[in-house]
Amino acid sequence: MNSALNPSLEKSLWNSDKVTKQYADDDYLLKPEQAILNIMRNRLPQMRMLDLGIGGGRTTVHFAPLCKEYVGSDYAEKMVDACVERFPNPGPSIRFEVIDATDMKGVPDQYFDFILFSFNSIDCVPPEDRHKVLEEVRRVGKPGGLFAFSSHNLRYLRRMYAIKRHRKLKDFLYQFYRSLMLIYYNGLPSRYDNKDYGIICNGVEHFSLNLYYGKPEFQVKQLRDAGFKNIRAFTNEETDVKNLHKVTDQAWIHYLCEI
Ligand SMILES: C[S@@+](CC[C@H](N)C(=O)[O-])C[C@H]1O[C@@H](n2cnc3c(N)ncnc32)[C@H](O)[C@@H]1O
Repeated sequence: MNSALNPSLEKSLWNSDKVTKQYADDDYLLKPEQAILNIMRNRLPQMRMLDLGIGGGRTTVHFAPLCKEYVGSDYAEKMVDACVERFPNPGPSIRFEVIDATDMKGVPDQYFDFILFSFNSIDCVPPEDRHKVLEEVRRVGKPGGLFAFSSHNLRYLRRMYAIKRHRKLKDFLYQFYRSLMLIYYNGLPSRYDNKDYGIICNGVEHFSLNLYYGKPEFQVKQLRDAGFKNIRAFTNEETDVKNLHKVTDQAWIHYLCEI
């Protein structure tokens, strides 16, 4: 059964040719990301943006052309190389750098107006280091600037384990197999009922990746404790943070907060 993240294994996975290729062409935006972009749109031309954990540059496509200055970054060198290749001659206001979100050495204090860490990338960070990301974001972000990210919802586990109806036997059998594997790797969902977070193997990358899943209200507390203000949450639509403990049908929650 799972209980830990393995940072060096995780990094080597993200830095592999196979996974880099999987992310190389993505260019969609999720509904909550679109909502956040719409909120930000008029301010982006005055903003310096730091896009952390960009992978193959999915969010670059949407944000970089709108910003005063844009730095796309990832701790996996191959992801950064893939972005350099994907966006040749991006212009003087756009660049790509290797940056570890837990230790952004070399990035000046209070430089960025908007920092994004999309697609649950923060959940690759071991729980004991999660505070480092929040501290670094507060250090390199301007006071009054904005931080957006998403994170897995621990309250979604029961739905994730559930065996749904399928028209095709093949799909049903796969779902059955997946549910058994989830129990094998993580135990039953009830194991996490009284926990603020869990380390979950959700099946991505053939059950080779463990990820942080947290209770949304615990995430909000972490943000408040770290000094973030005006915390907003998005599922399919904006959701009052006071009601986040009721959200059981969303695998991820997106957050937007003031630095
Ligand atoms: C799930 S992928 C998401 C990629 C991209 N944000 C997207 O939405 O397509 C997670 C990304 O986070 C990066 N990552 C994980 N931990 C990181 C860290 N500590 N600092 C910077 N990047 C990190 C990985 O290398 C990977 O590219």
